[in-house]
Amino acid sequence: MATNRTFTMIKPDAVEKNYIGGILKMINEDGFKIVAMKYTKLSKEQASAFYEVHKERPFYGELVDYMSSGPIVAAILEKENAVEDFRKLIGSTNPADAAEGTIRKIYAASIQANAVHGSDSDENAKIEGDFHFKATEIFA
Ligand code: CDP
Ligand code: MG
Repeated sequence: MATNRTFTMIKPDAVEKNYIGGILKMINEDGFKIVAMKYTKLSKEQASAFYEVHKERPFYGELVDYMSSGPIVAAILEKENAVEDFRKLIGSTNPADAAEGTIRKIYAASIQANAVHGSDSDENAKIEGDFHFKATEIFA
């Protein structure tokens, strides 16, 4: 059964280009409520752990370097059918394939620097949210 939360990060390239406001506006206008949020920076160790599922992929090392290269915004979002709806709002991993009007189509620079993260399952949404936030930092 679908739960009502997903986890997102606004990635270093999008923060650097001052896209935080534009991306948060799209998230709010699509009906997501922000229940937790922080401006932070991942250490190499944290980025390695967060993306551990990709450690055998050829892009893992570069992904870790990139995700720890500058500040990010991390947030937990709430909406009915949150995981699936948010994946729709962000669009395909490669911005060249992303649908018109999606966050990645508008804001992503490349397949690596693709502006935002979105959880791919309810299970991972919970794991990823817990990675960044304590229970006392979540306001439902
Ligand atoms: O983020 P998403 O779930 O759409 O894609 P993923 O397959 O889970 O990959 C995680 C992240 O790795 C992507 O968002 C990209 O930043 C990066 N990536 C990459 O650098 N090169 C690829 N060929 C695929 C993904
Ligand atoms: Mg993924």
